[in-house]
Amino acid sequence: MTITVRAAAKFNLHLGVGPLREDGFHPLATVYHAIGLYDDVTVSEADRWQVTLSAEDHIALGEVPTGDDNIVVRAGRALAAHHGIDRAATIEIHKGIPVAGGLAGGSADAAATLVALDRLWSLETSDDDLLAIAGQLGSDVPFALVGATAIGGGRGEIVEPVADNGAWWWVAVGSEQGLSTPAVYRAFDELVGAGVVEPAEPQVPERLLMALEKGDTELLAEALANDLQAPALALRPDLAQTFTDGEEAGALAVQLSGSGPTVLMLCRDAAHAREVAGAMQAKAYDRIWAAPGPVAGAHVVTY
Ligand code: C5P
Repeated sequence: MTITVRAAAKFNLHLGVGPLREDGFHPLATVYHAIGLYDDVTVSEADRWQVTLSAEDHIALGEVPTGDDNIVVRAGRALAAHHGIDRAATIEIHKGIPVAGGLAGGSADAAATLVALDRLWSLETSDDDLLAIAGQLGSDVPFALVGATAIGGGRGEIVEPVADNGAWWWVAVGSEQGLSTPAVYRAFDELVGAGVVEPAEPQVPERLLMALEKGDTELLAEALANDLQAPALALRPDLAQTFTDGEEAGALAVQLSGSGPTVLMLCRDAAHAREVAGAMQAKAYDRIWAAPGPVAGAHVVTY
């Protein structure tokens, strides 16, 4: 038997970051948003853990590990340990989410693996237990289970769905070179140390929640914010040009996705997204995706 589970890319409509905690993480007040770029994870019975990778044409696999250090093996082992069973599986990852792009592709794969193995092994793990296991795997993994649009608290692992009545369209513009999430958080800490940034207790702004509830694109354009944008731009000053180009291409707002380097452009509708994507292509960008949001969290597609 094989089971395929699909999981979406995410970015943060709002990413509020507080001062470094003692455990090495930062407190977050974020609004996660799942968009229509997907990885498919297919699992089947095996005596030992094995990971295979493939990708859509335009996705570079880069340095995704296929050994035990891949997050999907950690996910499988954590699920088995939770149930006190000793099992393994073959996990095939088909990537449609750009790698190391700040779109949480690895977290999507981990969430998809949890759902797929839960089915394959007939475990019927409760939602609460799945979310708890997901939270141990990575800060963004619980959201990849839930999908749509949700507030993230704690270090990002505590998720609470929010009303989102928009039918949003985004253009994502990728970068050839990835950015490391810990490096961007370190750059944030350096800006704090230098007094350039003064982090307060992070909060989700009311006007963003209102924009989502109303499905109001102009309001959403004004409400997007990301505290990791300044440190990411400090590490990658070249990204400033992508922001300028996105604005010139007619995007309603331009924002860094998570810790970057992917840049997200808010569009009015699908036709406008095609226009913005075309304008970016004309400016010689070659990693461009148009995607709607919100979309579902990890879900079974074939079994
Ligand atoms: O939780 P996750 O494995 O995705 O985190 C990767 C790294 O990102 C952490 O080791 C930490 O350096 C940084 N991080 C952070 N604060 C968060 C989430 C992640 O500093 N809330």
